[in-house]
Amino acid sequence: MDKMAKIKFSIITLFPEALKPYLDSSMLYKAQSRGIIEIEYVNLREFGLGPHKSVDDTPYGGGDGMLLRCEPVFAAVESIKLTDPQAEVIIPTPVGKTWNQNLAREFAGGDELRHYIIICPHYEGYDERILSIVDHKISLGNYVLTGGELPALILIDSVTRLLPGVLGGATSAEIESFSEGNNLEYPQYTKPAVFRGMAVPDVLLSGHHGKVDEWRKTNSGEKMD
Ligand code: ADE
Repeated sequence: MDKMAKIKFSIITLFPEALKPYLDSSMLYKAQSRGIIEIEYVNLREFGLGPHKSVDDTPYGGGDGMLLRCEPVFAAVESIKLTDPQAEVIIPTPVGKTWNQNLAREFAGGDELRHYIIICPHYEGYDERILSIVDHKISLGNYVLTGGELPALILIDSVTRLLPGVLGGATSAEIESFSEGNNLEYPQYTKPAVFRGMAVPDVLLSGHHGKVDEWRKTNSGEKMD
């Protein structure tokens, strides 16, 4: 593991090519190139069974679709834990704990280096026994996705932006304290001061920092729904 990286994410997936373009762009690219995070792709197919490297099968008791089998997932997790037995295992699943900013903070927090293994399920689900090696079941919300890749990206993105050195300008601590925990931001504006008749609030042009802070506090945390 990179000595400098604050967090290593090992992603167990059948579709590393779906993850890579996003993780290699913008802030997450910078976080990797600055050595703040490290991403390891572990292709579940390599742990598949038989000549076809099979990773799924039909459910006992009948029913639609295919389920991720235990053997390849256990083997993939164990191969990572061989070098880092402390790594924590996450599975994105609609029946998990709902992901939020507090959880993102917990996952990003602490002084020690952290290593998360994210299992990305696919097909119609996974064999329940896989949960015996999972530390964190995480749901991204009350809807069902086709796989764990999008949740993995959201999780990595929301944790990484909290790490020191990732965001430009303000530190994550400053941003967090400003919105008193809920982290819903205040409205922001850039040039021009008037666009198609829509003017930036006067106070933001005033140069009066106290008043700007006050305005931001009273205008933060408004949800759109
Ligand atoms: N897999 C499928 N749907 C999901 C969701 N809403 N959250 C996390 N993982 C999922």
